[in-house]
Amino acid sequence: MNPTTHYLLERKAIQDASQQDGSPFFCQHLAQLNQTQKVLAKEDICNRQGAIILKKGEDICERRAHMIVQHKLVKPIEQSIELAETYNAEKLFNYMKKFGSTVPGLQVVTGSDDYLSNLKKMCSYYGKFPLIKQTLTVLANRLHDIYNDSVFTALASLAIAMQMQRSEREQQIIFMAALTHDCGFLYIPNELAHKKQDFSRAEWHSLLAHPIIAKRFLDSVPDLPKDVTAAVIDHHERTDGTGYPNQKFGDELSISSQIIGIADDIVASYKAYSGYGPHTHIMILAALKLNDHLHFETVFKATAILFQKYPKPQQPPSQGTSAQALLNRHQQIQPYFEAIRTLSRKVITGTKHPLNRSIASMLGRLAISIVRAGLLQDEHKAWLEDMTKSPKPDELEQLLEVGVMYDQIDSQLLHLKNLLLRVLDDLTPQQEDLKVAAEELFGASEALPSNP
Ligand SMILES: [Fe+2]
Ligand SMILES: [Fe+2]
Repeated sequence: MNPTTHYLLERKAIQDASQQDGSPFFCQHLAQLNQTQKVLAKEDICNRQGAIILKKGEDICERRAHMIVQHKLVKPIEQSIELAETYNAEKLFNYMKKFGSTVPGLQVVTGSDDYLSNLKKMCSYYGKFPLIKQTLTVLANRLHDIYNDSVFTALASLAIAMQMQRSEREQQIIFMAALTHDCGFLYIPNELAHKKQDFSRAEWHSLLAHPIIAKRFLDSVPDLPKDVTAAVIDHHERTDGTGYPNQKFGDELSISSQIIGIADDIVASYKAYSGYGPHTHIMILAALKLNDHLHFETVFKATAILFQKYPKPQQPPSQGTSAQALLNRHQQIQPYFEAIRTLSRKVITGTKHPLNRSIASMLGRLAISIVRAGLLQDEHKAWLEDMTKSPKPDELEQLLEVGVMYDQIDSQLLHLKNLLLRVLDDLTPQQEDLKVAAEELFGASEALPSNP
């Protein structure tokens, strides 16, 4: 099979995964939720032959959920049920306000009267969409981590949109898309929400498809602007074509999707560095700065301005990074980068794979990060060596930032490896030398890539 065919097949597998009926997983969530609050049929639920599967007023218990998924329904299940209590506009506003106040960096930008009155407006807009309220309530109860991340993403996205002075209409789109950007996880196997590696092929395709899986649901929400769905689909795309699921480039992306994208990155960094107290936001900003070329310049600049609002910590970080550990990482990253760059170049010149464009972008992205992190400068290494011998308290923060940069480089190297594995998966016998080179670098493992 030639690489283009393979690539198209993989794209098709992702498309297929996105179109698979996710209702068995969703029904399972409903049955579980029904144990704490009633999930009722608000009308007779019928199959396409006209037979009644569930009578109006009956609840979705485990047994009935099992029965429902045996049938093709006249309407998507979401439209025929009601929950005893959904998260209405007021409840969402109160939750978001409280959430913002518990994260110090967020508090600075989301605690102002201006912000809160706008947030209230956005929440009442959300309140106009009963189906979104219902799905968000299921998310809050069943995948609480993803719900909290979505709330965080929506708070940060709205702050960035306000800083960029986007219109009210755009803010509504960004807010709704941020709240629902990961609701696709309700329609795929539960454990995928937390899995980081060892994916089966089907799981991998479902994961890559999660941004588009939400489309079937969002399309069914009456009066929801189409731009919301578009922003959800593109929330993992990045301007240099290294994102997913469609490897789009900057000129194909909307500002809304990229505001959500940068906010989503902030949430991920926050989770990685939340143990660093007032230094957390400096570390998140360091991570963003290293990757600023992945985001629209206007979006990045607005985000950076918001970060400046947080006062600089007065104390050196209590939890430090050891200079010796960084020095060891420094020594590992450089040769690995050289080796993966050589392999990538061989792949790019030796195959005509459609992913080569993304591999080239990824190499460019890494090269920028390596230079920015100072990995190629002798002075950087000398400074690290010096810090191992006589650490200076006022430079501890710099050590933290270097640690963040190395983390970012590690995840970029992993991303590049993932892309290479997808290409190498389907080499022709004539390209055996590439396979051998890849095995030398990555080991002979058949494992699928790790969480993108
Ligand atoms: Fe996502
Ligand atoms: Fe997310």
